[in-house]
Amino acid sequence: MPDYTLKIRRYDPESGDAAYWQDFTVDLAPERSVLDGILRARDQEDGSLSIRCSCQAAICGSCGVRINGKSALACNTKLSDAAERAQRGGINNEATSNGAIVVEPMGNMPVLKDLIVDMDAVHWKKIQRVVPWLLPEGEPPEREYIVDAEAMIDVTQSMACIQCGACVSACLSMEVDPEFIGPAALAKAYRFVGDPRDAHHEDRLRDLAEDPHGIYDCTHCFACIEVCPKDVAPMSQIMRLRRRATGDYAIKDSNNGYGHEKAFVDIVERWGTLHEAQLLPRSFGDGSLVKGQTRPAAVKQLIDSAPAALRGLARGKVSPRKVLIHPKLPDQKEVRRIYEEIEGRDERIELNLYIVGEEGEGGADDKEPVQGESGAES
Ligand code: SF4
Ligand code: SF4
Ligand code: FES
Repeated sequence: MPDYTLKIRRYDPESGDAAYWQDFTVDLAPERSVLDGILRARDQEDGSLSIRCSCQAAICGSCGVRINGKSALACNTKLSDAAERAQRGGINNEATSNGAIVVEPMGNMPVLKDLIVDMDAVHWKKIQRVVPWLLPEGEPPEREYIVDAEAMIDVTQSMACIQCGACVSACLSMEVDPEFIGPAALAKAYRFVGDPRDAHHEDRLRDLAEDPHGIYDCTHCFACIEVCPKDVAPMSQIMRLRRRATGDYAIKDSNNGYGHEKAFVDIVERWGTLHEAQLLPRSFGDGSLVKGQTRPAAVKQLIDSAPAALRGLARGKVSPRKVLIHPKLPDQKEVRRIYEEIEGRDERIELNLYIVGEEGEGGADDKEPVQGESGAES
């Protein structure tokens, strides 16, 4: 059986020492998991090596770590695949891998010991933030609530979450803004916004749209989709929350989410391409050219952003000509046709499209390119 070297991040708060790297070599079959390797190292070399785990079958969600820089379940990652990735490089941390499988605790959460992070301090706190239970109204039915199968299918993807925290660990927005509600909690929020038994869809959406760390704090980076072991696609759930907030309830939030979407759609409709100089000012307010921008809050934001615009002018990134003149696409009729076709539909079609991984990649922890249509949103 081949030997695999695991380079593991160690940290013991009681020792008073800083975190450090330690190598362990384990002799296991290639199809065994990284978790098997860690448990073997603990059994044979150092009983103090700490990791949380239970089911060892990608069900309980407790063994989340970062393997070669990527958040994953240790029990769901084969040693052979992890070693191959380590050989290919791409490790984005201070450890020099030299072909070893680098295992670290998850990101965006405080480390308690070795590979164990404080899920209560971040992940579970954020889940609680979105009121993760059903809020029906009126007298409950004598027997059970009857719900259309189609409506439940709509929330099945978000219900598949095993609360492992891998998406939280990978979230780039959360690195910048630790207050961001984050992918797992927002996917959980969609589970109730999409449930016809819940009577507070609009309240929930308004709350998440108005929160400066809410649905508009996501930068659309796809990292959560890429790492999720259950294909919950948290970013897609966040985009669905946004579409519900703007399209179904026309919630004009103070974070400019509504204005930005409207500005984007209107600009492309008028010019055929994105007129970036118009996007920022129109996004403040309600997305319209004059009316929205003259609101007091929008005027203040415009004034606040003036120094950045002036810096752009001084450095040649923005020119007065580009600001004032933006050429239209030659075939405006085709642009108009696309808009009419979409606007003429009776119901919104939700395209749940995402592609992850690289061409030619394989392995258990690489997802195949996925292209799916989740059907009409209920
Ligand atoms: S897509 Fe949004 S929620 Fe997901 S990791 Fe990126 S910033 Fe975070
Ligand atoms: S959405 Fe996916 S990655 Fe995030 S906690 Fe749930 S199962 Fe884990
Ligand atoms: S041990 Fe349960 S998901 Fe890995």
